[in-house]
Amino acid sequence: MAARNVSTGLTPGLSVRDEFPIFEHTVYANSCSQGALSHRVRAAAEEWLAGWDENGAEWEFWVERNEAARAGFARLLHAEADDVAVTTSVSQGVSALVSALDLTGERNRIVISEHEFPTVGQIAHAQELRGAEVVHVQPEVDGRIPLERFAEAIDERTALVCCTAVSFRSGHRHDVSAIAELTHAHGALLLADSYQAIGALELDVRTLGADVVTGGTVKYLLGSAGLAFMWLREPLPSELVPTQTGWFADEDIFAMSIADYSPHATARRFDSGTPPVPSLYPGVAGMELVADVGIPAIEAHVRTLVDRLLAGLDELGATVATSRGPLEYGPLICVVSTDPDALVDVLAAERIVISTRDSNLRISFHLYNVEDDVDRILEALAANRGLLA
Ligand SMILES: Cc1ncc(COP(=O)(O)O)c(C=O)c1O
Repeated sequence: MAARNVSTGLTPGLSVRDEFPIFEHTVYANSCSQGALSHRVRAAAEEWLAGWDENGAEWEFWVERNEAARAGFARLLHAEADDVAVTTSVSQGVSALVSALDLTGERNRIVISEHEFPTVGQIAHAQELRGAEVVHVQPEVDGRIPLERFAEAIDERTALVCCTAVSFRSGHRHDVSAIAELTHAHGALLLADSYQAIGALELDVRTLGADVVTGGTVKYLLGSAGLAFMWLREPLPSELVPTQTGWFADEDIFAMSIADYSPHATARRFDSGTPPVPSLYPGVAGMELVADVGIPAIEAHVRTLVDRLLAGLDELGATVATSRGPLEYGPLICVVSTDPDALVDVLAAERIVISTRDSNLRISFHLYNVEDDVDRILEALAANRGLLA
């Protein structure tokens, strides 16, 4: 049985499922694309509209909501709020991060795992225009990227290593701490894009090893698009000076000065322009729901569901693309299909929502899924066994 959060009484599974109306008619296993909408998150979005209606510009409340988002991210990451930038996307944060790196000298390499999300790869390659060289770390045939591949790629010329915590494409989970050790041995920084992990896997930045951790609210944090975060290890928030910036990154946003560039002393220097107000309300509500249930309990619950799925897939003789070592998978399992789009459509007709990438089906579980969801998916796959590799 799932652990109960003693202060809120909430557990993953049936106790929170009623919060999510979609489960009245659908098996939703697509949190890797977007988390399901809860009553709480809908109410928060409506609160934004009601306040606008009632009071016009709620400027001070917006600033407060931005800080609530910062505190919410910090709480989930076990971080200090001053070390967290509130961004509108991973892209915005990572672009600002690389803008702070000198890539013109000997240390001009950005090493990226082949599992990175497109935005990270594209931002890395954009730095070629500023003198950077990009090195890709390729997986083995089984989809794993062993530590040795990173060791071969990282050296004294490396400025930044990018290793996503969980691959959006294959579900493979990197050993961030071990890669961080390698990275630090060569004096480089490690960026862990944790979008596919945060909310479903415990991420404690005090022990994770990464120098920079980013992610956003669309998936396992149950919010909407337009809100993301970037945490930086001390003393990076005050040492790195981004040249991609905005007035909310200034040391005093109310100074309204156009005379100079004075970045904030904390990670706020990686914020940008007007906060993403419509996304702050649902984002904060989604994060609070996740925190109320508790990520360790969610992680344990999701593992039980994923293991049930894996056992069923093995019985079907299906080919699982996700690595199977105990620390090599998280909430997302990828299954090889001969026609993934057709299979997604067949399942959608039965009101089972999953998604595809490459030739894989992506099946992902979160706090609201239950064993019955897993069994419904397995039954539907068994009935369409011909579309599995
Ligand atoms: C691993 C990962 N990184 C980043 C993103 C999104 O990046 P951005 O917030 O820049 O749209 C996603 C979303 O799909 C993702 O899965």
